[in-house]
Amino acid sequence: MTAHGVFHVTTASPEETEALGRRLAPLISPGTVVGLYGDLASGKTCFVRGFASYFDLDGAVHSPTFTLINRYCAEPALYHVDLYRLEEVEEVLDLGIEELFESAAVCLVEWAERAGDGVLPRAHVKARFAHAGPASRHVTIEDYGALPESWDRALRQPPLA
Ligand SMILES: Nc1ncnc2c1ncn2[C@@H]1O[C@H](COP(=O)(O)OP(=O)(O)OP(=O)(O)O)[C@@H](O)[C@H]1O
Ligand SMILES: [Mg+2]
Repeated sequence: MTAHGVFHVTTASPEETEALGRRLAPLISPGTVVGLYGDLASGKTCFVRGFASYFDLDGAVHSPTFTLINRYCAEPALYHVDLYRLEEVEEVLDLGIEELFESAAVCLVEWAERAGDGVLPRAHVKARFAHAGPASRHVTIEDYGALPESWDRALRQPPLA
């Protein structure tokens, strides 16, 4: 599978990673799945916090490490999934994830590699996170047919935070 477009940035603080997530939010249409990849503490939840801050939420964004799925708002339906604790694709499917991915909800999925590419809808976004220093992270966003044209331009506007 080849990405339709790739955007790279290095964020210098958690606030910048949040700002990047917030910038991606208006570019995402209903039904889109965003897979988040990267080591522990690489910034996935931080990015989701920023993304969710674009919408009207009642509560705070917490990592769904134990609950597996958090629902943040109804319009658009916004789900935050964390597959870290699941070891097999079967367990991922038992969550009912395919129905969620086929719905009009926007889904942000940490540790999406646990699900495998076969479970992701054909059109989706991938965001990859890597440690670059104590307070910096390399972030790569790849579009697989889910983002509007020139999406990377909207992300590139400095400053991030
Ligand atoms: N540039 C940065 N961007 C994001 N987080 C950063 C950055 N610099 C430092 N941090 C710190 O790294 C940690 C990132 O935590 P976060 O929970 O977002 O990671 P995660 O990728 O979701 O991890 P997990 O796989 O455990 O869910 C936070 O403690 C945050 O303060
Ligand atoms: Mg997390």
